[in-house]
Amino acid sequence: MQMKKLLFQLDTDPYPSVFDTVVAYDGGADHVIGHGGLTPDNVSPLVEGTIFTRAPKDKKNTAIFVGGSDMGAGQELFSAIQKLFFYDFRVSVMLDSNGSNTTAAAGVAKLGSSGNLAGKKAVVLAGTGPVGQRAAAMLYQEGAQVSLTSRKLSRAEDACRAIQARFDVNVTPIEAYDNDARGRAVEDAHIVFAAGAAGVELLSEEHWKDNTHIELMADANATPPLGIGGTDMMDKGKERSGKIIWGAIGFGTLKLALHRACIARLFDRNDQVFDAEKIFALAKEMV
Ligand SMILES: NC(=O)c1ccc[n+]([C@@H]2O[C@H](COP(=O)([O-])OP(=O)(O)OC[C@H]3O[C@@H](n4cnc5c(N)ncnc54)[C@H](OP(=O)(O)O)[C@@H]3O)[C@@H](O)[C@H]2O)c1
Repeated sequence: MQMKKLLFQLDTDPYPSVFDTVVAYDGGADHVIGHGGLTPDNVSPLVEGTIFTRAPKDKKNTAIFVGGSDMGAGQELFSAIQKLFFYDFRVSVMLDSNGSNTTAAAGVAKLGSSGNLAGKKAVVLAGTGPVGQRAAAMLYQEGAQVSLTSRKLSRAEDACRAIQARFDVNVTPIEAYDNDARGRAVEDAHIVFAAGAAGVELLSEEHWKDNTHIELMADANATPPLGIGGTDMMDKGKERSGKIIWGAIGFGTLKLALHRACIARLFDRNDQVFDAEKIFALAKEMV
């Protein structure tokens, strides 16, 4: 009998993300079972159901995906799940709260395919969300000096502390309330990664067009108005005013291919952990 590939989509939000369900099927899961409202305190019975049900050689056909809009809650749930594993009583797991790892990995990998990131100054605009936090860590890993902005300094500081705790990297917090303040924050940057909420413009064209330092820009927001004014969501390494631009759909093709590839690989073995490091490594192979 052919074992069915079962993906348990465990979400920290009340309703499991529909986006993640669709990509899970497209990535090769035969059946996706979504649960919402999960925390370290209520996840144990679900995890036990995944690890005690199939023989060792068949366990690779069961996997867990952790999602949700809160990066911190996702990280806590992800780590609580792995603490329940022992010996070979484990299944492969993936963390991608709000598409954080796959989106950041695809965006940073595309930036890296267009120019050198090492030794450059990078600013992640509105970097306090899941995508921004992971993009900041990945840019740092590539050797950039990284700052992130928030409308509130305390939120920027909290995000930098969370990134430091998870990745042991130093990201500088910047308070930038509006487009003018964010324009000042990127004045001496070489790389700009816009990671703001959907439909929020973070920089106007006048803030980057004549900047002679900026070399590369990526914008994750695909909902108009875009995060970086004067760019197009379809930009695929397009040159504008002497800068290389990656728009949200421009690098979104890689994001989706990467997300699907990670889901497919979850079912190769029962002991894999797909988090920022492994997902970014795969993005760099795929780019
Ligand atoms: N291209 C793709 O394939 C893909 C895939 C997944 C997600 N996305 C997009 O990636 C972006 C980032 O996702 P995310 O989940 O990390 O975002 P998020 O958590 O919704 O928002 C990121 C940050 O945006 C800031 N923000 C919210 N409203 C704002 C406003 N009115 N003005 C200025 N800043 C504001 C907030 O920072 P502060 O409160 O700290 O200022 C927030 O922490 C989104 O646009 C999402 O749609 C793209």
